[in-house]
Amino acid sequence: MLLPALVFIIGSCIAVLLVRDYQSKQTDGFRAAKHYPGGRIVPVLGNLLELLFKNPVQTFTYARENAARYGASYRQWIDGKVILNITRIKEAEKILASTQHTRKSILYKFLHPLMGDGLLCSKGAKWQQRRRILTPAFHFNILPKFLTIFQEESDKLVRQLDRFADGVQDIVLQSVVTSFALHTICETAMGVKLDAYNEADEYKAKVYEVGEMLVHRTMSPWLYNDRVYRLLGYDGPLAESLKPIHHFTRSIIRQRRQSFQAQSQPKPDPNSEDNMYFGNKQRYAMLDTLLAAEAKEQIDEEGIREEVDTFMFEGHDTTAAAIMFTIVLLANEQDVQERCYKELE
Ligand code: HEM
Repeated sequence: MLLPALVFIIGSCIAVLLVRDYQSKQTDGFRAAKHYPGGRIVPVLGNLLELLFKNPVQTFTYARENAARYGASYRQWIDGKVILNITRIKEAEKILASTQHTRKSILYKFLHPLMGDGLLCSKGAKWQQRRRILTPAFHFNILPKFLTIFQEESDKLVRQLDRFADGVQDIVLQSVVTSFALHTICETAMGVKLDAYNEADEYKAKVYEVGEMLVHRTMSPWLYNDRVYRLLGYDGPLAESLKPIHHFTRSIIRQRRQSFQAQSQPKPDPNSEDNMYFGNKQRYAMLDTLLAAEAKEQIDEEGIREEVDTFMFEGHDTTAAAIMFTIVLLANEQDVQERCYKELE
């Protein structure tokens, strides 16, 4: 009795999957997918098998090997949807210039527990309102005012790298460079010196952990569904790692709010071009811009937390990766390194 019931259940599941698979292949997405090269699309599973059980190093190699193998933008077909990996400028330009395709991919949903609905993940009216508040904080003209911080932090980075310059010991760039980027974004955008915070080391470690969890989820399409992610017990460890991160950002906001409110001079209008960026020598961090907007009830505490988490993560993870690639390339291309060195001398 048990065996026929089991056969029936499994048979029904397979039938449902096959019908779904058939239906998904009648869509525009599948027709578009066929215009691009890619691995063999297996019934029901599509290209899922290619992604399974890869660690971050294998994930990195997988993407690079695909780009080299297909010599063009290539597609994956997973869970009835097409994923287009754009490797050519021509196609990138079309997508980036499009006003039609502005909705973010499902992968951005995974960032939500970390950075909420901040600028990177939000859309529509919310995005526009936040963008209006924040754009002046990154006006080209204010960058020179942060040059001293960039120089101080760069000097510290060079001193750290110098300790390994004799080549006796290998250096793990990740932690050194990530630290550098995090310290710099904190001081420039938040107006807060990380050295003064005991919690900073924990923040860095936890951000790294969360980054690994995000990559793991991205590479495991069966975890895309929130309910499955929860059921398999992944949300608990993520929430645990996020606690100290959010605690840290909240304490930065609190500390900065105190000094912001203590300033006796009238607050600048962050939307005005005639504000502190241009008027005098005082630096005006991005967090102050948000606090000024809070004073005008344009954003609340949770909104500030979303943006601070967004900028802290976006502002250090990206630049750290760019710096690491640059260092590795310079190490591999000794003649270019020599030319850079001469130019700086
Ligand atoms: C090499 C360095 C960087 C790279 C390659 C990079 C790349 C990108 C890309 C491709 C996007 C568009 C993503 C999307 O809309 O889906 C983006 C958006 C964004 N980035 Fe960066 N970024 C870098 C540095 C930074 C820094 C230093 C900050 C903070 C100070 C930052 C903050 C943001 C924010 C807030 C958004 C969302 C903007 C919006 O939608 O209005 N990024 N970045």
